[in-house]
Amino acid sequence: MPSGTPLTPCNRKYLGSKRLLRGRIADRIVEAAGVPGAFLDGFCGTGAVSLEMLARGAERITAVDNLRSNCAILRGACGAPTDPAGCARLSGLLEMLNGLAPRDGYITESYAGTYFTSPNCRRMDAMREAIERLRADGAVSAVEHEWLLGCFLLAADRVANTLGQYDAFLKHLDTASTVGGRHVRDGRVTDPFVLRPLAAVPRGGVVTVVEADLAAGPELPVVDVVYLDPPYNGRQYCDNYHVLENLARWTRPELRGRTRKFDRTGLRSPFSTRRGAAGAFAAVLHRVRARHLFVSYGSEGILPREAIANMLSEWGAVIVHEEAYPVFGNGAGVSQRREVTELLFHATRRG
Ligand SMILES: C[S@@+](CC[C@H](N)C(=O)[O-])C[C@H]1O[C@@H](n2cnc3c(N)ncnc32)[C@H](O)[C@@H]1O
Repeated sequence: MPSGTPLTPCNRKYLGSKRLLRGRIADRIVEAAGVPGAFLDGFCGTGAVSLEMLARGAERITAVDNLRSNCAILRGACGAPTDPAGCARLSGLLEMLNGLAPRDGYITESYAGTYFTSPNCRRMDAMREAIERLRADGAVSAVEHEWLLGCFLLAADRVANTLGQYDAFLKHLDTASTVGGRHVRDGRVTDPFVLRPLAAVPRGGVVTVVEADLAAGPELPVVDVVYLDPPYNGRQYCDNYHVLENLARWTRPELRGRTRKFDRTGLRSPFSTRRGAAGAFAAVLHRVRARHLFVSYGSEGILPREAIANMLSEWGAVIVHEEAYPVFGNGAGVSQRREVTELLFHATRRG
């Protein structure tokens, strides 16, 4: 593998990531349903649960999310080579990209001095353009392209001047990282932007990553176990991760406003709206084709616990597990730990 400690898709700040809960969730799934041959991870985000189920021996995993940035990182990790020749080739490509001369471009014009330092934007401009050119010239395969893009997005997230989401940036790119107990700048923001390898995932099963809007009615595969982890509050993921999404799509659209957002029409999720959440949830349940269905949801979410239990009870017999879970954040820039309860519903299909 190329130099630098490899990163996994979970090595990033992601709201609602099940990185810390994935072991408990997988335990519950395997206890109740055994190791699934076929597993569907709807709303996969970082892919924490998919990768945990892969490590537990699940054979065929379908992971679905509507953000291209999430899909690229997970696809890249799942396609990473493990053979010496493949690793050496990717190592050489990362070395070449890390050695490119910085240059001005779309990223510098768009984000310098806000989400990233200007020197890092210039490094990113050189590398992002080169990754696209490698693919356009046929010098890398589609899988290698996703791997390089995954490395790029994880590296960008590491030097971003945010508190884990991009609906705002921290104001002070050139001060100490904490002033008077307030977090004003990410300590890593001035580290140079450097691509690090994306680690290969456990071998054995096959992970298929699908970029799709689950509210738009795609047919779901027949599987043994479905796990759904929809957004549960009003904060749209396309707002929270618009910068990474824009870097992944690379269509270089016009950006607007202080937070430099692109037009996200088509990416807004009904699961993050009070009007749409119940209907969207019911519509997805209707399409689930599995014996076991697991749903994660926050106790402070838009849909009350009883509403979810009622919808699931039409589908099968329901039990609910509770997990106390520490989260950060109580106002912009203040990192305070508090506990919420994460609910894991399990419904077993009748008949
Ligand atoms: C709570 S997060 C899932 C976190 C994930 N389980 C993990 O461990 O990283 C919800 C995810 O749903 C995705 N999402 C939101 N609306 C969606 C939709 N309509 N169709 C597909 N994915 C959607 C978001 O992009 C986000 O990644």
